[in-house]
Amino acid sequence: MLKKRIAVFVSGGGSNMQALLDSINKQEINGEIVVVISSRSDAYALERAKVAGIPAVILPKGAQGEKESIILETLSQYRVDLCILAGYLSVITPGIIRQYENRIINIHPSLIPSFCGKGFYGHYVHEAVLEFGAKVSGCTVHFVAEGIDTGAIILQKAVCVQQEDTPETLAARILEQEHILLPMAVQLFCSDKLSIVGRRVIIKTKEEQSL
Ligand code: GRF
Repeated sequence: MLKKRIAVFVSGGGSNMQALLDSINKQEINGEIVVVISSRSDAYALERAKVAGIPAVILPKGAQGEKESIILETLSQYRVDLCILAGYLSVITPGIIRQYENRIINIHPSLIPSFCGKGFYGHYVHEAVLEFGAKVSGCTVHFVAEGIDTGAIILQKAVCVQQEDTPETLAARILEQEHILLPMAVQLFCSDKLSIVGRRVIIKTKEEQSL
């Protein structure tokens, strides 16, 4: 099976991208990261890409239309099959979503549909979980659709909230699970095991795959 060509979108530390790189290096994923697209010039994820010898594109500040053009041109130039948003905090326009329908995957640090949507990113998510008094949080890998954190759910992992948790300690425990869940979901996509029926993502069994 041909390796899927992957673009990873980043804005920060890039630990999720690193988890993907490590999994690919262990031959666990039938894919390769061919380009990294960053919304920030100071994202540590860019250092990780450099070490891994992966070309990077830094999006300019400013107009959404310009960013969309650069993203689409880059995805075309690198013949990208799958886009992964890994700590990416900038624009994915409807035009990009339409062109890459069900080929854009995001990871969110809560159990969608809880604690997601506008304003729910990074520490804000975990602060809201603790404030609400939730006993369970976790992370979700989902396809990107129009709206924020609205696409069909691929995988989820629950993480218990502990009495003494702070946003930082909860975030760290969930991030550990993100680093397991995202490579798992990407491997399912890259081995063509995912199908979508309405809002439901179906993971094909071995038998179904061979049909
Ligand atoms: C992670 O918590 C992830 O859930 C969210 O961005 C945060 C930072 O990720 N999407 P990374 O270390 O930059 O991959």
